[in-house]
Amino acid sequence: MSLPKRIVLVGPMGAGKSTIGRMLAREVGYRFLDTDRIIEDRCGANIPWIFDVEGEEGFRLRETAMLAELSDAAGIVLATGGGAVMKPENHELLKHEATVVYLKTSLEQQVERTRRDRNRPLLQNDDPEAVLRHLFALRDPIYTQLADVIMYTDRKSPRLVVRQLVNRVDPKTPRHRRQVRKEGRNHA
Ligand code: S3P
Repeated sequence: MSLPKRIVLVGPMGAGKSTIGRMLAREVGYRFLDTDRIIEDRCGANIPWIFDVEGEEGFRLRETAMLAELSDAAGIVLATGGGAVMKPENHELLKHEATVVYLKTSLEQQVERTRRDRNRPLLQNDDPEAVLRHLFALRDPIYTQLADVIMYTDRKSPRLVVRQLVNRVDPKTPRHRRQVRKEGRNHA
């Protein structure tokens, strides 16, 4: 296999970054890390508590510091929080020596997958769907612009997404070699 040094997953809440990231890491023999979970471990508090006490801005500072710390780590699949792309200074940290994968998911799926969640402060209000719609409109162009690979996850099992991702992030897979041969023939 010929893998990038780091695989970084971006995308909205409910895209499946943690589930898919963990499975992908196992598949390619990388370590799985999740910025949200590391921030919580370091703080000894969960994200709602951090938002309560330090505000969203306090959380974002911790998020940027975490991305900086991990920007050099090799052999990792890194799941990031949905808002990690919002600070321009995070972009280089996300992209550094990484293949950035955008897990793209419909609004319906985001709503469905986050419905019973109490750990996402931005969705603890009367109309979480409106919040998700607003955030998607804001963030989708940024995810798209940062991504090396865009992978749709709707109506796919995590296992299928992972199989397709392995093909996309590893340029030495049979699928890629077939594609390169085909392109070679077309240019001959
Ligand atoms: C956020 C997404 C969350 C978490 C925090 C803020 C966001 O992560 O970082 O609640 O701004 O979209 P997930 O995308 O893993 O849910």
